[in-house]
Amino acid sequence: MSTTQIVILAFAAVGLFGALAIASVALRRGSAAEPVTGSTDRRAMRRDRARRRASAEAAAPEAAPVGAGHDEGPPPIDPVTIKQDVGPEEYGVTRRQFFNRGLAGIFGLFMAQMGIFSLGFMWPRIKAGGFGSKVAAGKVDELTAQVFLPDGRVSPLFIPAAQAYLVPFQGEQAGSSFDGLPVVAGGLMALWQRCVHLGCRVPQCDSSQGFECPCHSSKYNYHGEYEGGPAPRNLDRFVVTVDDAGQLIIDTGQVIQTSRASNKTAVYPQGPSCI
Ligand code: FES
Repeated sequence: MSTTQIVILAFAAVGLFGALAIASVALRRGSAAEPVTGSTDRRAMRRDRARRRASAEAAAPEAAPVGAGHDEGPPPIDPVTIKQDVGPEEYGVTRRQFFNRGLAGIFGLFMAQMGIFSLGFMWPRIKAGGFGSKVAAGKVDELTAQVFLPDGRVSPLFIPAAQAYLVPFQGEQAGSSFDGLPVVAGGLMALWQRCVHLGCRVPQCDSSQGFECPCHSSKYNYHGEYEGGPAPRNLDRFVVTVDDAGQLIIDTGQVIQTSRASNKTAVYPQGPSCI
């Protein structure tokens, strides 16, 4: 799954959660499941006062004519005795409840977003066959045929899934900076395209037959051995194997670092530099 797809999914999820949160607040606002006192709701208090006033006026004796006796008309009724409880459906949701639920909804959205982005961040590592795991590059004989130009010069083959250049190695590892390391299989090596200085992508240079970093001019021969510039070591490389079907497997989860080569196994430069 690409980063764009993950971002689209994240926005869709956030929109869904937002709609659910709004629906939840709206439903609870009309629900009588949770009694509320309304003691701090000014509208409710105003309604209470108006109700008490109306009850008191209804219970008060009709305006008595001047001079009439106190025994005429109904006796006064204590307004407290006729006060009615106000049901939650009359109060609805108080402002405090509304803001509490809103905050809970926002926190829930934030956590959901964090979860989705964390999953997106980890996705390439848990996806089988992607960078960070074993990558099948193809049949060794077909790959070997592509890394040589007709005139015999080397043309490193870039494998995007492994972020690596395949280069031929047909000499002896003995005495090289990667002597004894599992970095050659089927006569091929897989060099990580990332510059070991500050991480720029290092392009190949056909004319010099090497790799030359455009950022700070580090140079490597086509075996990825250090040739110049601020890079502290050779280009990093991956562990490679050949499976039973003759396929070259690049294990991008195993990076091999080697120090600057004192014994070079490739000639550099073989022509003009590219930088
Ligand atoms: S990043 Fe390549 S030389 Fe600095």
